[in-house]
Amino acid sequence: MTDLQRQRLLVTRILPQLSQARLDKGFDGMDVVQWKEDRAIPRSELLRMAKGADGILCLLTDKIDAEVLDAAGPQLKVVSTMSVGYDHVNVPDLESRNIALGITPGVLTEATADTTVLLVLAAARRLREGVDAVIQGKWGTWSPTWLLGSQLTDKTVGIVGLGRIGVAVAKRLKAFGVQKILYQGTRPKKETEKEIGGEMEFVEMERLLKESDVICVCCALTDKTKNMFDYEAFSKMKSTVVFVNTARGGIVEQDGLIRALEEGKLGSVGLDVTVPEPLPQDSKLLSFSNCIVLPHIGSGTLETRTAMSEIAIENVLSGMKGQQLPHPYNA
Ligand code: DGY
Repeated sequence: MTDLQRQRLLVTRILPQLSQARLDKGFDGMDVVQWKEDRAIPRSELLRMAKGADGILCLLTDKIDAEVLDAAGPQLKVVSTMSVGYDHVNVPDLESRNIALGITPGVLTEATADTTVLLVLAAARRLREGVDAVIQGKWGTWSPTWLLGSQLTDKTVGIVGLGRIGVAVAKRLKAFGVQKILYQGTRPKKETEKEIGGEMEFVEMERLLKESDVICVCCALTDKTKNMFDYEAFSKMKSTVVFVNTARGGIVEQDGLIRALEEGKLGSVGLDVTVPEPLPQDSKLLSFSNCIVLPHIGSGTLETRTAMSEIAIENVLSGMKGQQLPHPYNA
């Protein structure tokens, strides 16, 4: 008998093809239960299906808290989320019960940085207005003054959170000829500055807000960063600023953002994340032509999502075997 036999794994969603095929094949007599739909598992189903689980492979759409852990029972050894962010998991609840938590770092860095740059350019070059004009038959003759955006050449970029994704964004934006990168985070990172090259400076938030032409939010959602961008913060930005958030919606105080947009305080905005997700169709945010909203697809490439689900499987199997996780949340 292997150590996985008679253990129960709950998977809360259908996974990308390669990983799904592995699940379908099974693992050494392990009992796999899965919410096999491509929509978030309802809370009641999560609580019901968690019963008796030794491992849970979840997504960022599943709130994992004491209620779920209680429903699972004391044999639960590991929670593995198919995401790098883990703000949906109550870490103290897991820690107090010695339940391991695995995440999927590294593999989504490039795709998420690509999406960040995509939104920077789309917002700066007024992509939404341009596409809408073509579709709505408002495309007149070529005009020297119509739909003028701004370009990155010689601009100052502010990056909030110079972690893996922030660094990848900085490297990409440098290629567009930006003059200077200001950054904010827990501490100055001299080695990283050297690695990225060019003019870089760790600055107070106040300065980053005031001096940046483009601001990219690349930090995790924590108690400290929650609602960090509120009306007051937006009021300090340049009126031409390009503001992009591909991290978590909760880092932005959305009513403050809406007010700033209404008052014309912001040049343009690109969001891949909102509160809530999905954003209701009648959300005011969708009414601004200078605000582009994507449906949280920062890591949405087949390559990246497959790598994420594979890591999530490795994490959960290791935890169920009582081994060290390859990618624990606190590495
Ligand atoms: C994550 O993994 O936290 C990302 O938000 C998924 O795109």
